[in-house]
Amino acid sequence: MAKVGLVYNLARNEQPEEGEPPDANAEYDSESTVMAVGEALRRGGHDVVFIEGDDYCYGRLVRAGLDLVFNMAEGLRGESRESHVPAILEMLGIPYTGSGVLTMAMCLNKAVAKKILAYHGIPTAKFTLLRPDVPLDTGTLQFPLFVKPLHEGSSMGVSSASVIASCDDLRRQVDYLGRTYRQDVLVEEFLAGREFTVAVLGNEAPRAFPPMEILFHQCPDDHGAVYSRRFKAEWSDEVFYCCPAQLDPELDQAVRKTALDAYQALDCREVARIDIRLDRDGMPHVMEINPLPGMAPGFSDLPRILNASGVGYDELVNGIVDMALCRCGLEHLRVPSAGQSIA
Ligand SMILES: Nc1ncnc2c1ncn2[C@@H]1O[C@H](COP(=O)(O)OP(=O)(O)OP(=O)(O)O)[C@@H](O)[C@H]1O
Ligand SMILES: [Mg+2]
Repeated sequence: MAKVGLVYNLARNEQPEEGEPPDANAEYDSESTVMAVGEALRRGGHDVVFIEGDDYCYGRLVRAGLDLVFNMAEGLRGESRESHVPAILEMLGIPYTGSGVLTMAMCLNKAVAKKILAYHGIPTAKFTLLRPDVPLDTGTLQFPLFVKPLHEGSSMGVSSASVIASCDDLRRQVDYLGRTYRQDVLVEEFLAGREFTVAVLGNEAPRAFPPMEILFHQCPDDHGAVYSRRFKAEWSDEVFYCCPAQLDPELDQAVRKTALDAYQALDCREVARIDIRLDRDGMPHVMEINPLPGMAPGFSDLPRILNASGVGYDELVNGIVDMALCRCGLEHLRVPSAGQSIA
């Protein structure tokens, strides 16, 4: 049994403040998700201390006497926000679940993650960065293009308007995203094929679970094949997802291998969800790596994928703790039978 600090950032119920993007709250967790993780940890036999990852969390972490932190904190602000709680924990010498400071910061910045992928020869769409105040130079990129904020998640700023067919569209959308999200805009070649998301769990020998396909033909005709903010907020019903995806064995292997390669290239630990799309020739490309995947039971992609493989929510949460305890040399704190061997 371990004394586990559950560190999280709660979504605010209020509307975004003046100057904030319309979807400013999308990354943060609801109280019910935080409670679900906490209850799962308790059922797994652990002692749980809830700690909001706010401006005052440092002192609470110093005083709490924790064996391990279960980190689900998205971070409050800044271009490296997902690395902030891991950095505090590293400084205090408190072991924590999931990826480290560097991995968190690299994966949040999609251009940096793509450079690492490219170095390892892992396919990812060609890209450039643009801003409202600079001329549009797309170099050798082939239209159609896809634009999104450089360091956001939960499809913030992503809609049907993200698919760009002309320079006029590009100017309009780069200006909108740059001004609304106050960061560089990532401009990529559009990947025209099917979309999958793959759960990878484990450390020494990580395992890629069967890919889940996002089913765009279920969306209204004018929506387009984009896993948009609207899609994630409104279409959680099973008809929009297929897990395991119907794939011939060769493509199934290729998608899983691409996900595993990305997980290892970015030095992920315990768990990550890798978003993949096929190009028009059917070749899997990594769009991004999520080392802090959503944990809303029955809603988020990760628990949905694990559930389809017969791994329940408690087993997922406690399996992550179990792997972290082993990695950190804290085997003596493991609870037998609480979510072991999921990877
Ligand atoms: N190059 C691309 N070509 C086609 N579609 C893309 C491309 N990049 C992103 N998309 C679409 O936009 C969606 C959101 O992009 P991405 O996964 O990078 O954003 P995110 O906000 O970090 O997502 P998450 O909620 O997983 O954190 C993708 O799931 C996909 O549907
Ligand atoms: Mg994504």
